[in-house]
Amino acid sequence: MWSVRRLLKAAVFAACLVPALRMTAGAVSLPGFSLGADPVAALLHGCGRWALNFLMITLCMTPLKELSGSMLPLRLRRMFGLFAFFYATLHLTVYIVLDQSGNVGAVWRDIVKRPYITIGMLALILLIPLALTSTARSMRRLGRRWTSLHRLVYAIAILGVWHFWWQVKRDIREPFLYACGLAVLLGYRLWKQRAAAVRISAARLAGIDAASAADPRSFASRCTGP
Ligand code: HEM
Repeated sequence: MWSVRRLLKAAVFAACLVPALRMTAGAVSLPGFSLGADPVAALLHGCGRWALNFLMITLCMTPLKELSGSMLPLRLRRMFGLFAFFYATLHLTVYIVLDQSGNVGAVWRDIVKRPYITIGMLALILLIPLALTSTARSMRRLGRRWTSLHRLVYAIAILGVWHFWWQVKRDIREPFLYACGLAVLLGYRLWKQRAAAVRISAARLAGIDAASAADPRSFASRCTGP
């Protein structure tokens, strides 16, 4: 019998697959599904968009866990991160196979000469070690280095939004919205880090050990007493 948590994970997994399934249905012209006049562009943009969406969703999980007190967002974070990698890989495959008709030389020239593609490629390359070390075993094996390595996701998200911004011709409204969302998600982390640093220096002044200061709740109890 599957636990509720497992059922929920399976449902979230299925939901994450829906964009790819819809694009596939459109690509094979299933009734009710269409990719419009330029199917290759629709697939390229669709996969790129969902790669960026899942990067943003992944970055929402830690604040969500802290604000809700529930561990569920952290349990789903790895799945969302791997879906960002999945859609970015699909995006690159569509670009190489369909958009550039498998012409590796042309792809290489684009990567070297078109800056927005250069940073898209850099974002994808940086995603590879994160995907490869997303297993629980890697987390145990790498310990603190795992946390430092996975902070790369911040740079990858910045590169993804920049890639999107640079490839739009005129209308920057959508990349701007993504940039604002990313600024809030990264700003929250900077604020939290700053608050922890202030607490630790205040603790030092008050002779409270740094470990208690790191956790806002135990710091408050140490300051105000039991
Ligand atoms: C993590 C990596 C990547 C992310 C998050 C990403 C994301 C995106 C996004 C959001 C778009 C715009 C979609 C839209 O207009 O709705 C896009 C377009 C595009 N991306 Fe990427 N991308 C990534 C990597 C790459 C790579 C590696 C390449 C090629 C080597 C690439 C080539 C393109 C191209 C050619 C377009 C369409 C540009 C146009 O229509 O003029 N992207 N990508």
